[in-house]
Amino acid sequence: MKFNVTKSSFGSEFIFGAATAAYQIEGGQGPETGRGSCHWDTFAATRGNVVGLESGAVACDHYNRWAEDLDLLQAGGFDAYRFSFAWPRIMPTGKGALNQTGLDFYDRLIDGMLERGLKPFATAYHWDLPSALADEGGWMNASVTDRFADYCSVLGERYGDRLASIATINEPWCVAWLSHAMGIHAPGHRDLRAAARAMHHVLLAHGKGVQALRASFPSGATTDVGLVLNYEKAEPAFDTDQSRHAAAIWHALYNQWYVGGAIKGEYPATMTEALAEFLPAGWQDEMSTLAQPLDFLGVNYYTRARMAALPDPGFPALESVPGPLDKTQIGWEVYPQGLADILTWLHKDYTGDLPLYVTENGMAWADTVSARDGSVQDQQRVDYFDSHLRACLDVMAKGVPLKGYFAWSLLDNYEWALGYGPRFGLVHVDYESQVRTPKASFNAFQSMLTA
Ligand code: FCB
Repeated sequence: MKFNVTKSSFGSEFIFGAATAAYQIEGGQGPETGRGSCHWDTFAATRGNVVGLESGAVACDHYNRWAEDLDLLQAGGFDAYRFSFAWPRIMPTGKGALNQTGLDFYDRLIDGMLERGLKPFATAYHWDLPSALADEGGWMNASVTDRFADYCSVLGERYGDRLASIATINEPWCVAWLSHAMGIHAPGHRDLRAAARAMHHVLLAHGKGVQALRASFPSGATTDVGLVLNYEKAEPAFDTDQSRHAAAIWHALYNQWYVGGAIKGEYPATMTEALAEFLPAGWQDEMSTLAQPLDFLGVNYYTRARMAALPDPGFPALESVPGPLDKTQIGWEVYPQGLADILTWLHKDYTGDLPLYVTENGMAWADTVSARDGSVQDQQRVDYFDSHLRACLDVMAKGVPLKGYFAWSLLDNYEWALGYGPRFGLVHVDYESQVRTPKASFNAFQSMLTA
């Protein structure tokens, strides 16, 4: 199983990588590690939140097996590894005292990447908010933005000389809306005021984080600073004005809010009107802090959303309707054109010459290891990557400055509220034995990248 696309068609500077996030793979939470607790630990322990009450306590035991995992990236021919720092491992209570054991772990990890010729692409926050900050209201409390900036200063000072890039926050839409309006991720609120506050604070934290990182880098550091946003191509489910309106609302709430805030210092007016009574007082005065100059924007893309209107007075009065395309294990439609559309739209309407990276793209499948020959045949995933890489080439040919592509994910891992069922990895993980088995999709990347 091979890709039809070739490495050379992307040009010699293009970066291929694979991505993970700390909570989803690390484990390493015993007292000897010094890690503090985070809101995902307690959210996961609360019945009804996560399938099977599963948590990241052990995950892929990457905390102990990181060297083997970096070897896989190197063997696959990847240029870069996108990983995240765990805030509670570095600052167990989210502020003040640092955990030396945790700081040392990331030293080893980063040095391990450099020794293997892998560029470290870091993310400061991929959702593991220290519990002590959650106790103070977490993303609903404006003070989290200063705590986040302090944390970024620690990262910048300690690691800024060795990182290729650092993104402040992964997927602010998930941090805010999915977690505070839909209640699906930690802390599990279903409250418009909570959501509106988080929607603003998460971007304010990003802006302050960018400033803190740049101010703390050791002199001579060349680390790029950016932000990673997720996008769903919003399309009307039916050929009606109501559906078109629903899709426009979803596009504003999901896509435009975050890129508008971070790139232009502007929120969509339809949203600030709808959420006016819930937004934190004085948000208008903080918009210039949100829009810091960036070195890149990361794009996470998986699928589209087909929206229909709901006949009620709530906000937002819409629902997503399953579409007719092929679906992944978790029901997400496979829609590579949506990636092309999103990249083109960003470039045209927001980012211009700013370098873009696809920082996550991939699909879940219920992969199994063959009893016959020990292989994992994931043809669907090979096709998924191939078609999305093709979409990248198409937009690059039209002038979109796309500089790299990261597959989600290196390893099967903890898929948040869905637990360990959905497998997104290029590498299969047996969670009992922690044995790693590269899948056919890993081999497809390897053949392309080492050809
Ligand atoms: C994204 C997350 C990532 C992973 C993928 C499937 O929203 O950034 O952690 O869960 O989805």
